[in-house]
Amino acid sequence: LTKHVVGVVGGGQLARMMTPPAIAMDIELRVLAETENSPSELAATMVGDFREESKVLEFSVGISVLTFDHEHVPLSILRSVETSGVSVQPTPQALSHAQNKLVMRRALQELGAPNPSWRAVSSAEELEDFIQSHGGVCIVKTPIGGYDGKGVRVVRNSSEVLDWLDKDLLESLGGELLVEEKVDFTRELAQLSARNQKGDFSAWPLVETRQVAGVCSEVIAPAPKTSEETLRKAQELAKLLAEGLGVTGVFAVELFETQGGQLLVNELAMRPHNSGHFTIEGSVTSQFEQHLRATLNLPLGSVQSRAKYAVMLNILGVSDSYDFVENYPAVMIQFPDVKIHNYGKSPRVGRKLGHLTVLGDDLEVALGQARSAREILLRVK
Ligand SMILES: Nc1ncnc2c1ncn2[C@@H]1O[C@H](COP(=O)(O)OP(=O)(O)OP(=O)(O)O)[C@@H](O)[C@H]1O
Ligand SMILES: [Mg+2]
Repeated sequence: LTKHVVGVVGGGQLARMMTPPAIAMDIELRVLAETENSPSELAATMVGDFREESKVLEFSVGISVLTFDHEHVPLSILRSVETSGVSVQPTPQALSHAQNKLVMRRALQELGAPNPSWRAVSSAEELEDFIQSHGGVCIVKTPIGGYDGKGVRVVRNSSEVLDWLDKDLLESLGGELLVEEKVDFTRELAQLSARNQKGDFSAWPLVETRQVAGVCSEVIAPAPKTSEETLRKAQELAKLLAEGLGVTGVFAVELFETQGGQLLVNELAMRPHNSGHFTIEGSVTSQFEQHLRATLNLPLGSVQSRAKYAVMLNILGVSDSYDFVENYPAVMIQFPDVKIHNYGKSPRVGRKLGHLTVLGDDLEVALGQARSAREILLRVK
């Protein structure tokens, strides 16, 4: 009997949402979670620190493939797992581009992918230089460790990132910060795709993502009012990058669309991505099922849409104690078409606690329902 066993490092909502397709296909899912009571406790088989080599090696015994809920596992540890004979997907080599935004920018440049103008800086002088030559404002990013806008700042003066330029901290980040022009984008888009080791590649429709304070708030699939050319260009870019970087599993390319209709790459993720949560209800194959298939080198599933539009809204915590379950009845009675996802996390202001999805033929109706439902869910009693 062949049993597929997938090991996931990280017990967040992404690992959690791999559970239903794993059960459906009788794929054994094992999760190395950081804490007890993690969002993926349903599948958590071990609790431990992913920065501890012996822990990750112990976790990897007996699994078919090791994959990820987040990109923060040190590459040296992943290489040891490979050396022990266990497949790691995406490979450490591919993952390095999602782990470090400077490594990513350099690789994108080499592949001829469109970047915002950027530079690696290691001093206040170099940063001031860039700001002066880019209209007095820029975006500074820590190359590693950022998520949900943490590690991203709009900067007009180097004094605004004095903490990051501190010698010890800078060293822990690799010695350099990433500086980018502040792109005057018309909107943000994301191209989600998947690739397996055989090289099979499949892309979902391009989506529009709307960020509030640097955090994803709404996703519209497909991206409304988008030319055939842009849809095609985004898919071609994802394919070029997936092949060029050797990506396996689900792959997200976050994009800026400029006034002139140009697409610039913001960043890459090599795992299921927030911009793809709509695929659970909105596509024949969800990103979570596809990630299992792709990392196990199985044939990919259909990415056909199940409706004209899918709208996904994140639910971010509004207080440190309020649990939105109390408002289930109010939402359920008024919006039977709304699908509620709750990651089972303890509430905290601004924390991603869940999401809502609505499918429909009419975008405005679907968006209206989703927004009203979210508002009701977040009402603190
Ligand atoms: N060069 C830029 N110009 C303008 N806005 C930017 C730029 N870089 C980032 N942003 C804004 O900041 C947001 C967060 O940036 P980025 O995606 O690099 O950070 P992150 O914290 O790694 O993201 P995530 O939330 O995807 O984990 C972007 O979605 C965008 O709204
Ligand atoms: Mg991002």
